[in-house]
Amino acid sequence: MKILFTGAGGFLGRYAAPRLAREHEVVGTYLNNDVPLDGVRLVRLDLEDAAARARLLERERPDCVVHAAAMSRPSDCEADPERAERVNAGATQWLCASALRLIFFSTDLVFDGKHPPYREEDPPAPSCVYSRLKVDGERAVLARTAPAMTLRLALGYGWKPTGHSMFCDSLYRSLRRGEPMTLFSDQFRSALYMKDAAEILARLLALREWPEAGGRLLHCGGPESVSRVRFGREFCSALGLDDSLVEAKTMAEAGVRAAPDCTLKSERLYSLIGFRPRTIEAGVADMALENPYK
Ligand SMILES: NC(=O)c1ccc[n+]([C@@H]2O[C@H](COP(=O)([O-])OP(=O)(O)OC[C@H]3O[C@@H](n4cnc5c(N)ncnc54)[C@H](OP(=O)(O)O)[C@@H]3O)[C@@H](O)[C@H]2O)c1
Repeated sequence: MKILFTGAGGFLGRYAAPRLAREHEVVGTYLNNDVPLDGVRLVRLDLEDAAARARLLERERPDCVVHAAAMSRPSDCEADPERAERVNAGATQWLCASALRLIFFSTDLVFDGKHPPYREEDPPAPSCVYSRLKVDGERAVLARTAPAMTLRLALGYGWKPTGHSMFCDSLYRSLRRGEPMTLFSDQFRSALYMKDAAEILARLLALREWPEAGGRLLHCGGPESVSRVRFGREFCSALGLDDSLVEAKTMAEAGVRAAPDCTLKSERLYSLIGFRPRTIEAGVADMALENPYK
């Protein structure tokens, strides 16, 4: 199968696009970060450029699109909501209008975090530009007749040493310098190792039949609900870092307002593909083996 993977140069894409390239022909897109990825042919695409988007589909003629490109930081979407609308909503609607098989990435942040754990049937309650646009995208994907799936991704963890920094890279760099890092004791997520997210995608793409209407929306998180502090301590233990530098605070103490508990129940996905992602302990142990800063 030929796959167009938008946002292949991003955090998820760096793990998932090379994994898919073991079994498929993968064309990956980037905007600013053209990191080389094993087996993936990279092309630059600005999702705001409608003519370039159309030319790319015409030229590549993929069988399936894995649509991971997005303005993925809620703060960027708040700062420039018009751009976020063009990038996150416009491009998704355009892909939905095509006849291609489509996998779209949404987020656990479609929930306000007040009534966990969340199942696919629970009503979204988006509270920021980023999550509102993701809900719009989910609705467009659900409404199309061509095969499609939405994966509501939980907080991902793994390495991303270049491009905008992700949680584990920032944590590792700070603690290695001996600088303390404040982590929330009351913010819970079903954190998912990006290597497992890659395996999930590979297994979904191997399905003979894609789920029909009711099963097109899937929660995609890890098997445990973990606070940022507990994650930080497990990370320190696996990476040999000084966990006394992890300072636990509540969000209120830090003056932060964010969804407290977006734990996802992802059993529907696990049983569909016959795969259960690893625990945090096993995930951070695997990260230690692949530490890019050693
Ligand atoms: N990471 C998480 O924990 C998480 C959790 C829930 C949902 N998600 C969703 O999962 C998907 C993948 O997330 P991620 O963590 O991989 O995000 P990411 O690291 O920020 O990567 C986003 C990708 O989108 C590309 N991009 C951004 N703006 C673009 C534009 N205007 N035109 C074309 N490409 C553009 C980026 O290109 P460059 O880097 O080359 O500029 C990058 O390749 C996103 O849809 C995100 O909203 C992520």
